[in-house]
Amino acid sequence: MKVCVVGTGYVGLTTGVSLAFLGHEVTCVDLDQNKVDMLRAGKCPIYEPGMEDLLAEAAPNLSFTTSYDEGVPGADVVFVAVQTVYKRQERRPVAGPRLHRRGEQVDRADRQRQLGGRDPARVVRSA
Ligand SMILES: NC(=O)c1ccc[n+]([C@@H]2O[C@H](COP(=O)([O-])OP(=O)(O)OC[C@H]3O[C@@H](n4cnc5c(N)ncnc54)[C@H](O)[C@@H]3O)[C@@H](O)[C@H]2O)c1
Repeated sequence: MKVCVVGTGYVGLTTGVSLAFLGHEVTCVDLDQNKVDMLRAGKCPIYEPGMEDLLAEAAPNLSFTTSYDEGVPGADVVFVAVQTVYKRQERRPVAGPRLHRRGEQVDRADRQRQLGGRDPARVVRSA
């Protein structure tokens, strides 16, 4: 399967690297250029024991980018694993503007790909 993972934090990176290790073709998208540069160099930006070994083993099936247009078009499934948004006063998570914007960005890149006729599943990981 072609997989796109949006967000390379604790949830996204472990999901993406594990799926690539299992043989899926995975593109991980993150807005943080420093994280993307580290990951391209095989360095793990989060504390996750064993991740750098797995990154090396999964490397042939794995790429990292800051561009939705490189990750979303053509994907069979898109995992969204970006930070949960909290309302400042209520301290409760909301599926608010940030997550909504992520959806729009995925949709925008997705529309181009839909010209090819396929529609990917979207999986949202949010507390
Ligand atoms: N960590 C956990 O144990 C856990 C468990 C269950 C659910 N969740 C939920 O999963 C989601 C991700 O959690 P996490 O711990 O991996 O977060 P994290 O903060 O470790 O990582 C989020 C990543 O998303 C990137 N990002 C932010 N906005 C982006 C965008 N628009 N496009 C691309 N990348 C973007 C950030 O640069 C960061 O690398 C959260 O909503 C969290 O509540 C986390």
